Amino acid sequence: MKKILFIIGPNLNLLGIREPEIYGHQTLSDIEKMCAEAARPLNFQIEFKQSNYEGDLVTWIQDARDEYDGLIINAAAYTHTSVAIHDALKFLKFPIIEVHQSDPSTRESFRHISYIEPLAAKVIKGLGTKGYTEALAYLHEIL
Ligand code: DQA
Repeated sequence: MKKILFIIGPNLNLLGIREPEIYGHQTLSDIEKMCAEAARPLNFQIEFKQSNYEGDLVTWIQDARDEYDGLIINAAAYTHTSVAIHDALKFLKFPIIEVHQSDPSTRESFRHISYIEPLAAKVIKGLGTKGYTEALAYLHEIL
């Protein structure tokens, strides 16, 4: 069974009540349940981690190297700022899928840069919460 890690960044713990007009009404725990259901027929074991702290994300990425077969990451605002997350992702040996619920390229200009994109096997954006299950399906295709 392949093991897939989800790393979810800052402010996404507030999903459901944070800017629902952009991010919808599903909570992070709804998304986790939806992904667990989608993972079952794919024979994936999944794990979800969320933090508002950049260093947590860096350490989880480092520790994932020998533990998982794929990473699905929505680093939220750190996507647009974090060289530290970029450097940590370089250390991984398995595919990385970058997910954004909104499409940052159609929003403020400070969201147009992604430090994750150069290391991602695929970027899925603008599909809302469906982006996470699309990422699982894509990993299933390539693994
Ligand atoms: C986001 C887009 C980011 O620009 C933003 O900072 C987020 C969420 C998304 O899922 O659309 O927090 O990653």
